[in-house]
Amino acid sequence: VNKANALPDGYHQKLKQLKNGKFVANVMYSHLRDMWFDCEAQNSTYSIVVVSAYRSHNKQETLLQQEIAKNERFGMSRKEALNDALRTVAPSGYSEHETGLCVDITAKRNQQLNKQQEDMPENRWLQKHCAEYGFILRYPKGKEKITGYDYEPWHFRYVGKKAAKEIMQKKITLEEYLQEKQVEVE
Ligand code: DAL
Ligand code: ZN
Repeated sequence: VNKANALPDGYHQKLKQLKNGKFVANVMYSHLRDMWFDCEAQNSTYSIVVVSAYRSHNKQETLLQQEIAKNERFGMSRKEALNDALRTVAPSGYSEHETGLCVDITAKRNQQLNKQQEDMPENRWLQKHCAEYGFILRYPKGKEKITGYDYEPWHFRYVGKKAAKEIMQKKITLEEYLQEKQVEVE
């Protein structure tokens, strides 16, 4: 799923509820739990929060409209507001959050989705170790043109351990990985 690839009609993942009420794809649950546990076990001060996980189509649409409205309040035209919003929020039908296969994780003491997140030791640990649990940093710094989105240090996507290790080791995106695989198959 990305800006060029919508979720197929009727797409459905079995979901499981976290203790904080958020839902994640069943296939990812145990891997998320292990990563979470191991991260917090590194240091007694480490504490993380899943601030966003599965979102319904309607929720995603609401988030986009809120971002557009916020931009308009800052004086942007409707078109500018939409284009700017699309750098950080996916249109409904095109968000990984609608799959349940990704999570936005922050440090407990800074739950804002901002650039400072990458300075949190929890985030450093997650970026370094996520592949061991089958996760990738989905929107890396410097890859904005490929992913279509601004750098998001908090957004981790479950792809399974094999793919995750290759993607994180090569410092590539899911788009580049899938393109490589397609070439291999052809
Ligand atoms: N923030 C990501 C791109 C989303 O809205 O799915
Ligand atoms: Zn996200």
